[in-house]
Amino acid sequence: MQGVARNFFTLAVVYALCGMALGLHMSISQDHSQMPVHAHTMVAGWLMSAVFAFFYHLFPSMSATLLAKVHFWLTAVSGIGLLIGLFLLLGGNEAIEPLVAISSLGFYAAMLLFAFIALPALWRPSRNAG
Ligand code: HEM
Ligand code: HEM
Repeated sequence: MQGVARNFFTLAVVYALCGMALGLHMSISQDHSQMPVHAHTMVAGWLMSAVFAFFYHLFPSMSATLLAKVHFWLTAVSGIGLLIGLFLLLGGNEAIEPLVAISSLGFYAAMLLFAFIALPALWRPSRNAG
């Protein structure tokens, strides 16, 4: 695994470590108020980034494109902004809400970009994955 695929899998592992640490903190403190941050770190962070990593691993020709790099950075920056923003928002910092809103839109835009990258590659008649 290399390039964008390796970047995504590295990001996925960092999300898993942070999200599980938060889950343990929630369990030990019996304060589940950060549950949405934990849930999104685990599924929108760890699981989605891992799926992206395996997609680019299976389609190395897509991994080499500029669009793939844009996809990685938009996903990473908006995802981290979303999770840190939501963590602060749920902690009572209401002024951070615009960051959460903008990051959510960025995260959705990144998914749209992924659809634009992945669907033509999947449906290419030659079935030439590389
Ligand atoms: C160290 C391991 C983990 C701990 C201690 C932990 C702890 C927790 C806790 C305390 C909650 C809140 C439950 C509630 O308030 O109803 C929760 C919810 C959740 N966790 Fe974890 N978790 C762990 C790992 C994971 C993993 C590996 C995933 C997914 C890959 C995950 C996904 C979720 C999801 C999606 C929810 C929200 C469930 C709902 O909507 O009710 N967690 N977790
Ligand atoms: C644009 C990005 C996203 C936004 C703005 C968003 C927003 C939300 C909101 C408002 C809730 C309800 C929270 C509550 O009732 O407390 C929720 C729940 C949930 N979302 Fe998302 N979501 C996004 C992306 C995703 C993605 C990509 C996944 C999975 C891959 C996901 C998985 C979940 C799960 C498992 C729950 C239930 C656990 C919880 O209540 O936190 N979300 N989301």
